[in-house]
Amino acid sequence: MSFASMAESTRNASLQWRKLPPIIALLLILPIVSGSYFKPFNVSYDHRALIVAGKRRMLVSAGVHYPRATPQMWPDLIAKSKEGGADVVQTYVFWSGHEPVKGQYNFEGRYDLVKFVKLVGSSGLYLHLRIGPYVCAEWNFGGFPVWLRDVPGIEFRTDNEPFKKEMQKFVTKIVGLMREAKMFCWQGGPVIMLQIENEYGDVEKSYGQKGKDYVKWAASMALGLGAGVPWVMCKQTDAPENILDACNGYYCDGFKPNSKTKPVLWTEDWDGWYTKWGGSLPHRPAEDLAFAVARFYQRGGSFQNYYMYFGGTNFGRTSGGPFYITSYDYDAPLDEYGLRSEPKWGHLKDLHAAIKLCEPALVAADAPQYKKLGSNQEAHIYHGDGETGGKVCAAFLANIDEHKSAYVKFNGQSYTLPPWSVSILPDCRHVAYNTAKVGAQTSVKTVEPARPPLGSMSILQKVVSQDSASYISKSWMALKEPIGIWGENNFTAQGLLEHLNVTKDQSDYLWHKTRISVTEDDISFWKKNGANPTLSVDSMRDVLRVFVNKQLSGSIVGHWVKAEQPVRFVQGNNDLLLLTQTVGLQNYGAFLEKDGAGFRGKAKLTGFKNGDVDLSKSSWTYQVGLKGEAEKVYTVEYNEKAEWSTLDTEASPSIFMWYKTYFNTPDGTDPVVLDLGSMGKGQAWVNGHHIGRYWSIIAQKDGCDKTCDYRGAYTSDKCTTNCGKPTQTRYHVPRSWLKPDSNLLVLFEETGGNPFKISVKTVTAGVLCGQVSESHYPPLRKWSTPGFMDGTMSINSVAPEMHLRCEEGHVISSIEFASYGTPRGSCEKFSTGKCHASKSLSVVSEACKGRNSCFIEVSNAAFQSDPCKGTLKTLAVMARCSPSQNTSCLRQRETASD
Ligand code: GAL
Repeated sequence: MSFASMAESTRNASLQWRKLPPIIALLLILPIVSGSYFKPFNVSYDHRALIVAGKRRMLVSAGVHYPRATPQMWPDLIAKSKEGGADVVQTYVFWSGHEPVKGQYNFEGRYDLVKFVKLVGSSGLYLHLRIGPYVCAEWNFGGFPVWLRDVPGIEFRTDNEPFKKEMQKFVTKIVGLMREAKMFCWQGGPVIMLQIENEYGDVEKSYGQKGKDYVKWAASMALGLGAGVPWVMCKQTDAPENILDACNGYYCDGFKPNSKTKPVLWTEDWDGWYTKWGGSLPHRPAEDLAFAVARFYQRGGSFQNYYMYFGGTNFGRTSGGPFYITSYDYDAPLDEYGLRSEPKWGHLKDLHAAIKLCEPALVAADAPQYKKLGSNQEAHIYHGDGETGGKVCAAFLANIDEHKSAYVKFNGQSYTLPPWSVSILPDCRHVAYNTAKVGAQTSVKTVEPARPPLGSMSILQKVVSQDSASYISKSWMALKEPIGIWGENNFTAQGLLEHLNVTKDQSDYLWHKTRISVTEDDISFWKKNGANPTLSVDSMRDVLRVFVNKQLSGSIVGHWVKAEQPVRFVQGNNDLLLLTQTVGLQNYGAFLEKDGAGFRGKAKLTGFKNGDVDLSKSSWTYQVGLKGEAEKVYTVEYNEKAEWSTLDTEASPSIFMWYKTYFNTPDGTDPVVLDLGSMGKGQAWVNGHHIGRYWSIIAQKDGCDKTCDYRGAYTSDKCTTNCGKPTQTRYHVPRSWLKPDSNLLVLFEETGGNPFKISVKTVTAGVLCGQVSESHYPPLRKWSTPGFMDGTMSINSVAPEMHLRCEEGHVISSIEFASYGTPRGSCEKFSTGKCHASKSLSVVSEACKGRNSCFIEVSNAAFQSDPCKGTLKTLAVMARCSPSQNTSCLRQRETASD
């Protein structure tokens, strides 16, 4: 079966699946529950590659973090990884999620690790399990449970007994879990490789000799667990002999492992980047990413993992910091909701297919043959004896010039190489793929307001509903959160305590209250000088809100910054209230256990007549969290116990408010988001599920280039978008957390916003564009046609194709533009050029309309004429996708029964 048709059948199978009678479906999913997925096999390695079941393999891996999606999303994410050409799924293990309380484990729901691994296995993919247990990952506290910092005498990630004991206990637990569930490859499971630690090389120096000892200990501890598969330490140049070291970065083609006996592995290929509150959105162009990957395999690489293939969402308070946003979209090939990001997904799929075609040659050679083709051009040729006897040969031709195309000669043939690109020749003659030539479709995500089904409405209702359609609700309830100490479980202590020592990260919020007495003399002193006293704190993170007598004086946002806040006191006793807040705990760097939160150094009030007031010595009353949090007003179970009142539509924005409403789930299967752009900063829950922190903070104005040039080395500040706009306004609500109607939405708003303008929307790939020229390469799937590889059939005679495809459950409903000829412009801005085949629209419509996907040959034959002889022609198409009636009903039923 060909690569493409295999993919087709997987997809069809997953659609068919839903139509099966429950009993048969149950029998089919039995292997997920028990039994093995592969004939047991071993994994070892040599200098060239991992050896899987006795064979060297070139592997492509898709990074997918299970708790950043829901279990209901996992099958689709894994299927799309597989269809995109991945052989492996890679994930970290998130200790903080699995052991939220010391000794109490959680492997349920989004943390059902075994279920995730089983799904990977049942799809026929392998798994790289990065246990860490330090993971970084833009995850709260780098994945460490916060209780770990309370273990007496502990120092993280160094030769420290208490730390090593806890680390060993957790790693042993995970390895044991995998073994019991028979998840290792030698047991017939998908786990082929593990990871201990994570980029420890970055911080090792800070720990001196103890750091070096820790590396050795971690390695031997891991190996001692008898997991029977290789262990990796990424970015660890002193990884011991029997542990693999690996590269992380935007490019890893120059990477050399620390021993000649180890293969070249790339554990994190950063295909985008994460986002901070107040930051713009990073994008890594597909052409550059493909270039980096092709260069890697060209220069001897054998395992490459996309970090991330699917980034997902930092639900709850799981996002790390400082200041990482709730979305972890990462500009990955699958977007935050699991929809394909095109052309990235498709361009990589083509790349993987091209690399797969080269695999026999890549594994046959111990090392490539090198040929310089020009000053900035080079070829790497892999040849040897194929598995079935004949000779195999594959070549990669690279032009690393950032500006100019290159015309090179290779094996007596001429090749044109666009700037910053690699051509892949699976037979050492014909180009199957060039990293800079994108044949894959582009998709434009459309965000639609959710509308009630129009059919059931009167005309008047329809008009009204069109108007106010996007707002989630007309009726809201509000509940005031007390400013300051709100309950009995407060305590008083001398001096300023460290934030995390008090909150244990059970909440973002910590109230501090002290009494300041002000004399008549002070007041007249301030009047005379025209100055106010100032609160001054040496250093603070992440948010500090200062209140005097329950009135907000001001807020300070920053990461270990000095805080200075003018305050106004009245004569007599004043309550000085400080609220410190975290927005994701530190996840990177040495000495995480010492980082803490809240305040550091001295705090004082300056500008008093008799000198400064040292607040570090004052008596403070502390209260952890909010009253609403303690009373769980965001849950379906408890929200009604609180005293909510109806919110007036004219109510002015107010700080520290809880809001709630009920809403209906939008029809169909498209991912659901809440648009919280009308709100300030806070947290949101749907049916008790914490969907994350929200914050309508505006990204910096500058730094987003108008055009994005794929050429030249990528950095995360290249090709960013969204400058001057709120960093995040849309928040994912997984469909499995919703019921058809009366979904409870609760928000805690800190700074003031307008809940009446909150809307519920759906996201879909609403618009597709394709642009493929006559000179493009033949479809990759054609390479598996007999005769193609051995040259008995001419590759040159095969016309290129355009492939258009809507998301599952959608069909191409209209062709908005089609021109075979010399069309101009780019997606959504196409126009016909001088040359245009009159049948363009009818041919494309005929092939595509009403279908989920279609192929159109890019040739005169397909368009029944040559609209301009002697001119190179291109086909440009813009199409729209709409939900297909049948599947949307089907999926709705499914969601309801989830
Ligand atoms: C790496 C780290 C990952 C992730 C990445 C940035 O250094 O290993 O866990 O944090 O950076 O997204």
